[in-house]
Amino acid sequence: MIKLERVAMGYLPGQEILKNVTLELRPGSFHFLSGASGAGKSTLLSLLSLQHRASRGLIRMFGEDVTWIPRDELPRLRRRIGIVLQDFRLLEHLTVAENVALPLKVAGEDAQEIDDKVEELLEWVGLTDYHDALPAILSGGQKQRVAIARAVITKPDLLLADEPTGNLDSELALRFMYLFEALNQTGTTVLIATHDEHLISLFNYPVLRLKNGQIMQEENSLAMAVG
Ligand SMILES: Nc1ncnc2c1ncn2[C@@H]1O[C@H](COP(=O)(O)OP(=O)(O)OP(=O)(O)O)[C@@H](O)[C@H]1O
Ligand SMILES: [Mg+2]
Repeated sequence: MIKLERVAMGYLPGQEILKNVTLELRPGSFHFLSGASGAGKSTLLSLLSLQHRASRGLIRMFGEDVTWIPRDELPRLRRRIGIVLQDFRLLEHLTVAENVALPLKVAGEDAQEIDDKVEELLEWVGLTDYHDALPAILSGGQKQRVAIARAVITKPDLLLADEPTGNLDSELALRFMYLFEALNQTGTTVLIATHDEHLISLFNYPVLRLKNGQIMQEENSLAMAVG
């Protein structure tokens, strides 16, 4: 269970981008996070991925209160989270394959197994030919696919994806949505931030709408979200 209670957060002293966010994501649930540009979707994902701390409120994840969890315990929790960042954050000095392999390498997985999984995923995302390429030569959509492959390769407990289809054509966007659904069906809790209302309308998942620093939950999704 992921639970935020009355969470506030800003980047500058006294500033509140998130004012009063309360939400629950049941294990194995699938939600969209929507809201206008600047509403704070990426900011909320930065809290959930433990990159930033709340200035107020409570955050529980994986059965623990993580609001003020010591810094040296963060890596253990972060390893359970896959994140696709809006600006990809690929490591420019590593090849495509090395970028995708990174989370498994950090987790200390066997080298042969890493290679096999990387090959399989690169094929799935259509980037086999770019195995040894550096990110600098990739298009925006190709970078996005690398970022997605890197986020899902560990089959994380929680997948956070920030506009993961923003640089993809509609056919590829759907293909990746199906990938997230497949992961969800194996137990991963999924949260997809997007302002693509058309994409949202194609799927029957509850939508958390961020506005004025709060979550406006759609009535029809409340029961599903809170369970
Ligand atoms: N590192 C930062 N330092 C200061 N302010 C920031 C920082 N990152 C974001 N902000 C501010 O926080 C607010 C919310 O930004 P955020 O990126 O979370 O919005 P968003 O909903 O993800 O928007 P978009 O749909 O454009 O990606 C904006 O006003 C932005 O200027
Ligand atoms: Mg954003």
